[in-house]
Amino acid sequence: MKETITFQLNGKPVRLEVDGNRTLLWVLRTDLGLTGTKFGCGLSLCGACTVVVGKEAVRSCQLPIREVRGKEVLTIEGLAKNGKLHPLQKAFADLGAFQCGFCTPGMIMTAYALLLKNPRPTREQIIAGMDNNLCRCAAHWRIVQAIERVAGTR
Ligand code: FES
Ligand code: FES
Repeated sequence: MKETITFQLNGKPVRLEVDGNRTLLWVLRTDLGLTGTKFGCGLSLCGACTVVVGKEAVRSCQLPIREVRGKEVLTIEGLAKNGKLHPLQKAFADLGAFQCGFCTPGMIMTAYALLLKNPRPTREQIIAGMDNNLCRCAAHWRIVQAIERVAGTR
């Protein structure tokens, strides 16, 4: 059954008439055309679909849209400001922290939430925080380096 759902998306108010059980991932990708958030496993296993809700990294493939009612959702499309990449985006690009790039939006949004909670994580804390995000291109080490650069620990 359709419900009215309102929330903030990348700093702007959104109002939708939608089945409340529809997942945030497909609302973003199909209904709102924000395809930066990726569909990988659909089972909360890979992290490709990660967005930030409030201050938490969340797997959008598992989150019913009604759960974001009244909350702030940030996707990869909302990170750059005034045409300027977010430092995490720049560090990933500068250090080549990807190959195919499919995991990258989820990696960056997970790192964003990690740095919100802990702006100066140790390498071990970064590895632990990113552990459940998978990169089939094996860019994990450069991903850790990019996050370290932004955290100012390199
Ligand atoms: S697509 Fe959501 S965790 Fe893999
Ligand atoms: S860069 Fe290809 S999956 Fe990570």
